[in-house]
Amino acid sequence: MKPAVCRFSISMDPELAEQLDTLTAAKGFANRSQAVAHMVRDELVDFYAHQGRHEVAGTVTLVFDHHHRDLQRRLTSIQHDFQQRIISVMHVHLDHHNCMEVLAVRGPAEEVRKLADRLTTVKGIKHGTLTLTTTGKEFSK
Ligand code: NI
Repeated sequence: MKPAVCRFSISMDPELAEQLDTLTAAKGFANRSQAVAHMVRDELVDFYAHQGRHEVAGTVTLVFDHHHRDLQRRLTSIQHDFQQRIISVMHVHLDHHNCMEVLAVRGPAEEVRKLADRLTTVKGIKHGTLTLTTTGKEFSK
């Protein structure tokens, strides 16, 4: 059976350690260990997101003017091409002109990236971002 925790010591510049303590308090982590574990998971998520075949989850956020000619038809067409990777879509009418679409996505990192690239480069998109996270499988707790 694996032990509940693994203890090890870290050496770092005292100034950096001080900043770590400031950050730990400001963010509300219980202690250094929790803060460092959070950072390690953050780095791992980023690492896995760059392994092309690794399964990731994430969101694609798009802001656009729905009056822009042909834009919605193009977005829909791309979404149908990648329908296996899209779990859910939320469309919000921000004002008279602007819409925000948030897509929950899942799949191999390279395919999710390809989908995000296709959508964010459609002419008329004011801003488009991809945020990748874990499917949760890498971390048992
Ligand atoms: Ni709308």
